[in-house]
Amino acid sequence: LAGRPTAGPWDGLRVLVTAGGTREPIDSVRYVGNRSSGRMGFALADAAAARGAAVTVVAANVTLPRNPAVRYLDVETAAQLADACAGAFAQTDVLLMAAAVADFRPVGPADHKIKKTGRGELTVEMEATVDVLASLSGTRRDGQVLVGFAAEHGDGALAYGRDKLERKGLDAIVVNDISRPDIGFDTPENEVTVITRTGDQPIAKADKAAVADAILAVVDRLRDAAVRT
Ligand code: CTP
Ligand code: CA
Repeated sequence: LAGRPTAGPWDGLRVLVTAGGTREPIDSVRYVGNRSSGRMGFALADAAAARGAAVTVVAANVTLPRNPAVRYLDVETAAQLADACAGAFAQTDVLLMAAAVADFRPVGPADHKIKKTGRGELTVEMEATVDVLASLSGTRRDGQVLVGFAAEHGDGALAYGRDKLERKGLDAIVVNDISRPDIGFDTPENEVTVITRTGDQPIAKADKAAVADAILAVVDRLRDAAVRT
């Protein structure tokens, strides 16, 4: 087709990426959010599209420039992200779950703006959201590759990551250390370790496009291993 990239190594592969950070409403104007910019997720989507894959990004509150070769589904909340992913997952070969998904959301958000007059404090009750990645993993079929992402603080980061790999039934988890101000949230560079069932692979500090390429190289290895077994 006109405008389509020519043959690439990921031609015919369907890739689902989640990116950004969810926002859970407190009232009609306020939300509980997080610092994820969506840069890592968008870099992964660009790298997969450059390899010829058909890429869908579920984008949670991302304001970055968009790639005309990628399909974007915009969401705000964890529940909307869960719905969008559930709709696409059966037709997905590679899932790259880079979004920062809220673990808790306010119970019964107000449909109006909460006023400060007459109150000295405000308590917001929160309830757990669904773990999107764990529930998708529960419906996975042979041949799908599932990659999680974990932002962890300093010591123990890799152990926490390995635990999530097991608990969520993943093929790989990309761990970054958010105690370091020079990488991670809202920065152009990243430095990560990709944990798989056959070992850990450190990826040196680089711009997020280069880190995305290195992560996709790990996905290639996982896909080769899955075909052989
Ligand atoms: N994740 C998800 N749904 C959630 C929370 C997390 O799909 N409700 C996904 C993230 O997108 C990420 C992976 O699970 O790919 C790990 O997220 P993380 O926040 O590190 O792990 P949690 O299991 O939420 O544990 P905690 O925040 O307590 O460390
Ligand atoms: Ca979490």
